[in-house]
Amino acid sequence: MKLKRLIFVISAIGLFTFSQTNAQNKMNLDFAHADQTINKNIYGHFAEHLGRCIYDGIWVGPDSEIPNINGYRKDIVDALKELNIPVLRWPGGCFADTYHWKDGVGPVEERANIKNYFWGGVIEDNSFGTHEFLNLCELLGADPYISANVGSGSVEEMVDWIEYMTSDEDIPMANWRRENGREEPWDVKFLGIGNESWGCGGDMRPEYYSDLLRQYSLYARVYGEGKFQRVGCGANGSDYHWTDIVMGRAARHMDALSVHYYTIATGDWGNKSSATDFGEELYFSALQNAGHMDELISKHSAMMDKHDPHKRVPLFVDEWGIWTDPEPGSTPGFLYQQNSMRDALIAATTFDIFHKHADRVKMANIAQAVNVLQAMILTEDDKMVLTPTYHIFNMYKVHQDATYIPVLLQSEDYKYGEESIPAISGTASKKDGKVNISLSNLNPNEKKTVEVDVEGGNLSSVINASLLTAPKINSVNTFDNPEVVKPVEFSDYKLKKETLTVTLPPHSVVTLQLQ
Ligand code: AHR
Repeated sequence: MKLKRLIFVISAIGLFTFSQTNAQNKMNLDFAHADQTINKNIYGHFAEHLGRCIYDGIWVGPDSEIPNINGYRKDIVDALKELNIPVLRWPGGCFADTYHWKDGVGPVEERANIKNYFWGGVIEDNSFGTHEFLNLCELLGADPYISANVGSGSVEEMVDWIEYMTSDEDIPMANWRRENGREEPWDVKFLGIGNESWGCGGDMRPEYYSDLLRQYSLYARVYGEGKFQRVGCGANGSDYHWTDIVMGRAARHMDALSVHYYTIATGDWGNKSSATDFGEELYFSALQNAGHMDELISKHSAMMDKHDPHKRVPLFVDEWGIWTDPEPGSTPGFLYQQNSMRDALIAATTFDIFHKHADRVKMANIAQAVNVLQAMILTEDDKMVLTPTYHIFNMYKVHQDATYIPVLLQSEDYKYGEESIPAISGTASKKDGKVNISLSNLNPNEKKTVEVDVEGGNLSSVINASLLTAPKINSVNTFDNPEVVKPVEFSDYKLKKETLTVTLPPHSVVTLQLQ
C-alpha cells in the first residue's frame, strides 16, 4: 500500500471528506466555505537597484536604440502588463537602506552620481529616480510600494518624500515636484518603514526597531494623512521572536507587517548551488525548502494573532523566491541567475500556500522582476526572454482577487532518499461565475492522476486548460532558445458528473477554468 498524505484544510467549521473512490490523489473543493479573497497583491513584484534589474533591465533611457517608451524598455513594459502586475516595490531591498531620494529628482544631467554600496559598489547616474519609478507604475497600472530609508536616512527625509510624492498643497516639497515637471501628486498606496532592519537596514534589535517604527509611522501618518498602508519591517525567515516583539510593541503603529523568506536548495547560504546544473537531489530539496513557507506563515500568523487576534494587520511576504549561485561569468554582486522548470514549480506551489493563508497574507513580492534572482524576465542587450516563473504568474493570474475555495488534498508522497513531500499541490478559486483550479505534479519521474471533486460547484464544462512542463527539471529558456518552457493547451482531463479527472505529466503545472 502506497503512502498517502492528507493536506489539511482549512475550513472554519472543520473537516469535510473525500468521495469513496480508489484514486490515490484527490482534491475536494469546499464551496460552502469559500469566503476569503485572494488579494491580487499576492502577485506583486519587486524591482531594486541591483545588478541589471533597473538599469538595462527596465530603464534604458529615452535615447537608447532599444525600443522604449520614454526610457522604459517597451518589451519589458508589455510583458509585465500582460501579467496584470498589481504592485511594484522599489527602490530596495538593501539599496533602499542607503538611498537618499533627493539625489534622484530634478534635471537628469544635474543629478549626482551615487554609489550602490550593497550591490557591487557600482556608480549609478541616478537617471532612474522617484519620477521615473512612479510614472512606470502608472504605465503598468500597478500600485507603487515605496521602501523608506530607516537604516541610514531620517524622519525628515521620509516626510519630505511623502510630501513630494503625495501632496497637492502649496508647500515646498509639492512645489519642488511641480518644478520638476509633475503637477498632480501620485497615488502611493504602500510605504515600507525600513527594509531588513535586522540586517542591511541597520542591524537592529527588534526592541530598538519597534521604537523607530512607532516614530517613523507617526510622522508617516501625519504627513501622509492616511493615504497609504504603512508596512512594518518583519522577520528574517523563521525569526518568530522578531514578530513577537515588533507586534507586541508596535502593532497599532503599522497597517501591515512584512516577512522575507528565500529558498536555498542546499540550505547553505555559503554554497547555494547552481540555477541550472542540478540533479534530482537539489530539485527535491529546493521544493521541500520552498514548502517551508507554509509553516513560516502559520507560525508568524499565530504570533501576530497573539497581539492582533482580529487580524487587522496583514502579513506581506515582500521578498521571496529561490536564490542560487549567480550565473558563471556574471558579476557576483548582481545576483543574475537563470530560471528553470524547478523554479516554475516553486512559484506555483508557493502561490498555493499564499492562497491557503488568504486571510492573513495580503501581499507578496517575488524577488525580483528582471535579471535578478527568481526573475520574470531576463535581458541581454536588445533581447529578452520570459522565464518559466513568468509563465506561472501568467497562468495563475486568474486567481487575482478571486474568492479562495478551500481545498482538501490527499496526495501520494514524492520520496527522495529518506525524505518525502506531497507529490501533488493544488489550489482553487472562483470569480465571475468561473472556477479556477491549479494543480502541480512535483514528481519528476511519473505522471500522476488527480480526481477533483467539484460537487456543489454546478460546473458543466472546462473552458480553458493550460499546461507548463519541460523536457527536464532543469530546462530553461535562453536567448537562442526562448520557448523550451512555455505553456501549451492541455487536454488530458475528463469532467464527468461532479468529478474532474486530470492527468499531470511529470514536473508540471496545469490551470483549468470551469463553468
Ligand atoms: O533581493 C535581494 C536582497 O535580499 C534585498 O536587497 C534584501 O532586502 C534581501 O536580503
